[in-house]
Amino acid sequence: MREAGTPVAEPGALDRVRLEANRQLIPERKAELGQFMTPESVAKFMAGLFSQRTGAIRLLDAGAGVGSLTAAFLDRWGADDVCATVYEIDGKLASYLRETLRAYGSETFEATVIDRDFIQDAVYRITMGRKGAGFTHAILNPPYKKINSGSQHRALLRAVRLETVNLYTAFVGLAIELMALSGEIVAIIPRSFCNGLYYKPFREWMLAKASVEHIHLFHSRTSAFNDDEVLQENVIIKLVRGKEQGKVTITTASNIGFSDMKAYDYPFSEIVHDGDQQKFIHVPVAPSHSDLDGVPLADRSLEEIGLEVSTGPVVDFRLKEYLCETPEEGTAPLLYPTHFVGGNLEWPRQSKKPNAMMDNPETRKWLYPMGFYTVTRRFSSKEERRRIVAHVVDPAAFKGDAIGFENHLNVFHSGKRGIDGDVAHGLAVFLNSTAVDDYFRRFSGHTQVNATDLRLLRYPGRRDLEELGQWAQVQGDLTQELIDYRLAVLHGRAK
Ligand SMILES: C[S@@+](CC[C@H](N)C(=O)[O-])C[C@H]1O[C@@H](n2cnc3c(N)ncnc32)[C@H](O)[C@@H]1O
Repeated sequence: MREAGTPVAEPGALDRVRLEANRQLIPERKAELGQFMTPESVAKFMAGLFSQRTGAIRLLDAGAGVGSLTAAFLDRWGADDVCATVYEIDGKLASYLRETLRAYGSETFEATVIDRDFIQDAVYRITMGRKGAGFTHAILNPPYKKINSGSQHRALLRAVRLETVNLYTAFVGLAIELMALSGEIVAIIPRSFCNGLYYKPFREWMLAKASVEHIHLFHSRTSAFNDDEVLQENVIIKLVRGKEQGKVTITTASNIGFSDMKAYDYPFSEIVHDGDQQKFIHVPVAPSHSDLDGVPLADRSLEEIGLEVSTGPVVDFRLKEYLCETPEEGTAPLLYPTHFVGGNLEWPRQSKKPNAMMDNPETRKWLYPMGFYTVTRRFSSKEERRRIVAHVVDPAAFKGDAIGFENHLNVFHSGKRGIDGDVAHGLAVFLNSTAVDDYFRRFSGHTQVNATDLRLLRYPGRRDLEELGQWAQVQGDLTQELIDYRLAVLHGRAK
């Protein structure tokens, strides 16, 4: 009997089957059925994400293709005491799949290949109460394709109250429903469910029924499926049915060999923000020293340079009663992104937004002491040239001894107090550079820049920031060319 951890096929053999089967697929059908196969190295990584096995396994692989994922699973965890249920709707692929599974010859290994529609079958099982004991493990690379509103799939999914717009979320949603308590799912899927508006019901479904344990992010848009040139940004997600949500592990790598993989743990509140009605799933990026080669002089953490960054604490719809249209006695200035027009502060400004907030003992907890701060917008439009847009808040522009920052801004501060003026200016120059923008785009598909992303960035040392800031203050208009030139000069000196 084979030991767990020893692959049945020689390394690369399944990749060859996959490529051979791939060549035989009919292009129209390939798009119709979302037939993009997982490379062997990715399948192996996915299989490795399951927890140590403890007993008999009931495995689900829905949309199994030639069986790369089930094979990787069996290679990693052994075929003894495994009962695999694999769905593949395409007859040609299903015969490759049967061949793949035949190689696993344990007496206690049982495989059922179902060459029918998984959605139909799963909905039938759920509505008829035929879920049985439920699956203990699911490994998935489901098809990606829009589900039209009038389609049979949409109607079937509605029957189990799963409202969703793409086959991939339908497959993951149904798999969650078919799992036993503590059953683990590892799936490779596009990233669109994380922040797409139409995926909100799916996010709610998923977060209500399972915990998110791990998300792996591929940096490059093409790296996960090289031979299919699928321009999708993919994530690998691990979910556990019915488990209480704890920390989430985020890993990133720029290639499918995982050679530069980095791992970080985050509190769940940094992945799905408290009170977020949309339940957006944020995948923070994790830069490291070497990743920032393109960003001159950036090798310090924020902590090392004595700074912190937070989301603006004033959530306006919660504090309505304290907001004031115009600044007056007993109020503190309140800044929104709208107060930064081009590179300049325009405050107070006539717009729909308030310009001030009452300043009293009750509201002080949402205000910062007056001082220098650097702020960035959390949301930029897709058309905007840069993702990170930073501004300096200069106390000379305001009266009073406190200031409010609205929630759509991120604020750099030091222990909730102002920072040195030169550093504030230097930081803004650094954050507005093309090098930082390029870097950020490589790591995030979002137009959103959260405090977590900024916390993970690397920065120049304090003295360099001071120097940059002093330079910026005598320049007059700071153009992009000027900023990039100045950073290049600093970089040259550092080499
Ligand atoms: C993205 S491919 C992944 C294949 C395989 N899991 C892998 O990782 O290489 C999705 C597979 O799902 C199959 N498929 C598409 N729609 C299906 C359905 N409704 N039921 C079952 N399988 C389906 C396709 O034929 C295709 O082989």
